[in-house]
Amino acid sequence: MIWLGIESSCDETACAVLQDDPLKVLSNPLYSQIDEHALYGGVVPEIAARAHLQKIAPIAEAAVKEAGVELKDIDAIAYTTGPGLMGPLLVGASFAKGLARDLNIPAYGMNHLEGHLAAAWLSNPDIEPPFLTLTVSGGHTELVMEEPGFKYTSIGRTRDDAAGEAFDKCGKLIGLKYPAGATISRLGKDHNRKFVEFPRALHTHDSCEFSFSGLKTAVLRYTETHDPEFIQQNLGDICASLEDAIVDSLVTKTINALKKTKMKTLVMGGGVSANSWLRTRLQDYCDKKGIRFCVPDRSLSTDNGAMIAAAAIRRKLQGKLESIDVVKPWMPLA
Ligand code: KG4
Ligand code: ZN
Repeated sequence: MIWLGIESSCDETACAVLQDDPLKVLSNPLYSQIDEHALYGGVVPEIAARAHLQKIAPIAEAAVKEAGVELKDIDAIAYTTGPGLMGPLLVGASFAKGLARDLNIPAYGMNHLEGHLAAAWLSNPDIEPPFLTLTVSGGHTELVMEEPGFKYTSIGRTRDDAAGEAFDKCGKLIGLKYPAGATISRLGKDHNRKFVEFPRALHTHDSCEFSFSGLKTAVLRYTETHDPEFIQQNLGDICASLEDAIVDSLVTKTINALKKTKMKTLVMGGGVSANSWLRTRLQDYCDKKGIRFCVPDRSLSTDNGAMIAAAAIRRKLQGKLESIDVVKPWMPLA
């Protein structure tokens, strides 16, 4: 079967064409709205919805063309129903349902977070549940156990901000543009991670919960008590310290969850899963403990259309593909 995946939950208009046997991403173009939102320091839902409306048809056309197929070759569509911004989601859903009706093919609504984890499955198609999953994105930070049949149990989540949100908000405080995660990582590379002792919330807590709002306050205090020139001159070290604080919290709680659940496979997904320091730290732990660590190809960590089609294919292979209606967003992991 040939699948068209459509992702429009936030600020990327993304479409992809995948074949399911053998499993292959044939194309995965996207339009990033980052420049349109950068001015406001975060995503503006209204602007996002309008940009999706303008770009979704050209991106879908590009996906089909780049894949070397024609519209009539598409057998099914998978689109994101949530979690995400309502306006952007409705644009994607309307487009997917309209196109499916025109082509007389089914359209399946998929969960965005399941999509992020399916991106890791694309590089590790032989993994079998049960396993522990870590979803780290701009809107979510959660440890979830996945058992056969897509049964999910939350092990712990953030009490306040998501990890990506922490990167973005702390970055903004030190003068970086939205989204700041990848920039902090780039600027902090090979710098002193111990330059500033930023707090690690709930660190000694035996729980699997995260909290990043205290870090945000600590960074705000830091900017209030240090000269802008000092911050500029030491930006690399400050970014390295910031990255270490966020990654340390993620790693500590994930290790707690691995110990509690005794899982031998860890699957990570979401925009922050592109982070090299997080990958290195978790890989080191997993290597020591004989745990299999599955991550998406770096290009598939952040939002994209391939992960949504992959989520549908993964469900189809297990006989669990069912559509989620757009009027009833289905958010088992939210
Ligand atoms: O999954 P995603 O593309 O969108 C959501 O579903 O939220 O994640 C976006 C988030 C942003 O907060 C961005 O700053 C963060 O992922 N991010 C990173 C990196 N690349 C993207 N954070 C840390 N290191 C990175 N390399
Ligand atoms: Zn996402």
